[in-house]
Amino acid sequence: MKKVAYADLQPGMIIAEAINSLNGKQILFPKGITLTNKAIHNIKNWDIPYVMVMEDASSPMEMSKEESEDLSLSPALLPTMLLEKSLNFSNTLQDSIGKVNDLFDNTRRSKSVDIREFNKVALQIFEHSIYPSEAVHRLLFSLPNDNSLAYHSVMVASLSGMLAQWMNWSAKDIKEIILAGLLHDVGKTQLPIEVIEDTDSAFMNPESIKTHILLAFKLLKGTKALSPNVLAAIVQHHEYMDGSGYPQQLSGDRIHIFARVVSVVNYLSTMIAASKNINPFMLLQSIKTEMFIKLDPEVCDVFTRRITDYLCSSIVNLKDGRQAKVVFLPNVNPIFPVLQVDDEFIDITRNKEVKIVGLLM
Ligand SMILES: [Fe+2]
Repeated sequence: MKKVAYADLQPGMIIAEAINSLNGKQILFPKGITLTNKAIHNIKNWDIPYVMVMEDASSPMEMSKEESEDLSLSPALLPTMLLEKSLNFSNTLQDSIGKVNDLFDNTRRSKSVDIREFNKVALQIFEHSIYPSEAVHRLLFSLPNDNSLAYHSVMVASLSGMLAQWMNWSAKDIKEIILAGLLHDVGKTQLPIEVIEDTDSAFMNPESIKTHILLAFKLLKGTKALSPNVLAAIVQHHEYMDGSGYPQQLSGDRIHIFARVVSVVNYLSTMIAASKNINPFMLLQSIKTEMFIKLDPEVCDVFTRRITDYLCSSIVNLKDGRQAKVVFLPNVNPIFPVLQVDDEFIDITRNKEVKIVGLLM
């Protein structure tokens, strides 16, 4: 193993010794974890000066049986266990992103969509979406920032599948909405790559981006293997509840439920991509603002309830180096949670100098 300063860390390096918080009370990353851009960003936030990494990144270090048993026995290491558990899910997502990238390249060249292969990726995501709370953490806050179409599509697919699961949809419908998420922007494969990866413009919905709905319809209209639910999600995912969307300015229940779910998730994903330092409390606030205007309130309600439950027991890192537990999240202003550090309760609305810089678990 070798000692690498924060500034020299690279995605793909494998942690050879667990990274502890500066006060030594928490393991932030266990050994064996592969570093991502987001993880490196977190290490910076935690002021970790250096990390021990493996010399040969091609042979990931395995934990011994005793070490895994130690982990499972210690309540103090709960964050680490969740991280370990969600790692498999993260690996599935990374694998899916690679496959979808190749499939989009094929679509770009052949002007046809290989539904069978996209379906295989959808099934792979479905089979690994069984740990919702850990998965949410991975999906929303721990994956590298990546503006590629494949990354965005896998993220939308996975989150749509999770929302459908939370709404108790049937397995068939969950699989279909994951496929819809993978394909919702397939029309963009027919646009120049610079247009696709310009997230600021995508957020503003310029005319060039709007054509991706029509392009998707042209690519898919003759495809018998595609369910009408999936096609509806693809052609309506930019329609808004207040009728301000495109291409048909549909409103309310006239928008297919699959499209309303994909629209909420697409909004989340675009917010994260457009603002690299967005934290989950800001994201929650933003969804609560839009849920009675553009987005489906019932779908948003399911999402915000789950995320609120999840964040209410989370541990956050503060700018002054301390770690705090979130004990209360105001319904109206979730951006200002009440925190607990040891025996002290902190109301952020009254302590403006307290700043959350990261989410630990
Ligand atoms: Fe889109």
